[in-house]
Amino acid sequence: MTPLTTTTTPTKQQRRTNERKMGKLASRTSGQQGPCPPSFTCTSSPCSTEWIRTDARRTAIGLDLDLESLEWCLENNLSKIGADGYSRMLLFHGNVLQPKEARLVKQKFSDLVQGLDVSSENGSSGSNSCEQPGLANSKCLANSTMSEAALPGRDIICAFNYSCCCLHSRKDLVLYFRHAFSSLSKRGGIFVMDVYGGTSSERKLRLQRKFPSFTYFWDQEEFDIISRQTRISLHFQAGKKQMLRHAFTYHWRLWSIPEIKDCLEEAGFKSIHVWIREMPNTQSNGNAKEYNANRDVKYEESQRFNQGDAWNAYVVGVANI
Ligand SMILES: C[S@@+](CC[C@H](N)C(=O)[O-])C[C@H]1O[C@@H](n2cnc3c(N)ncnc32)[C@H](O)[C@@H]1O
Repeated sequence: MTPLTTTTTPTKQQRRTNERKMGKLASRTSGQQGPCPPSFTCTSSPCSTEWIRTDARRTAIGLDLDLESLEWCLENNLSKIGADGYSRMLLFHGNVLQPKEARLVKQKFSDLVQGLDVSSENGSSGSNSCEQPGLANSKCLANSTMSEAALPGRDIICAFNYSCCCLHSRKDLVLYFRHAFSSLSKRGGIFVMDVYGGTSSERKLRLQRKFPSFTYFWDQEEFDIISRQTRISLHFQAGKKQMLRHAFTYHWRLWSIPEIKDCLEEAGFKSIHVWIREMPNTQSNGNAKEYNANRDVKYEESQRFNQGDAWNAYVVGVANI
């Protein structure tokens, strides 16, 4: 393997190009999904599309600092959920630390649907009139802030793909959790986030996972034990020549589970639960067969878990029960 070099985070333009290349790469991977388009509340990721697609009563709201990622989501997920699904998804551009000021990104509905079949699953044709049922309507709400949109309380808030690690100070983490808490339904709701750790996560690490038509590299370039900050780049290779370096680069603070629990309690969550599993050993050779053999290890709710090479966990904060 060619040694992976450290470069700076790609610019937005480079990232867009990378994403386009990633899309091509993903389509060559016999059903393997490409990486999730980023969104802070998971709404742009496949799980929220799935959430909307599988029940006509469901709605989803997303919030992210990165406008391009949100637009990517609208462009790429719309074809999967149709106009009906689209009317039940709202994406906001803004900061999770000031969510009320975030602005709706949905004005380009007509551009987006051009050339797409906008029939809903039951065959009716979607319209974008203000009478259309759904979470809200982009024309009615165009350019609204989140506070103007007067959204209903949420049942579930997700911050996946280690999004909480984007916040580097305890003060910000608690503030984010307070906003999440106050957005939950007064009947009760949960806030779920993922976090990873293990001895392998606190040092330099280069991992590769080989799949039939591409190889994925996790390049953990540094880990500072004083700030607990780490820098991770993801690279992809298809065939021998096509190497896509730094498709994504993240600067994260690796929060520990007790730190997260304390902050959730401080923000008002009543009970906190941890679901955890061991991950494949990072010393293994990384072929997909070995990796997949480990796939069936289940997450279990745990009070204690001995430190190991690598683990992944979901931390769930429960409100008002
Ligand atoms: C690691 S990605 C996670 C992607 C997403 N959760 C998913 O599953 O697809 C982190 C995302 O958080 C966003 N982000 C970071 N800090 C933020 C903040 N203060 N407010 C809103 N979004 C933020 C970034 O723009 C990026 O899209």
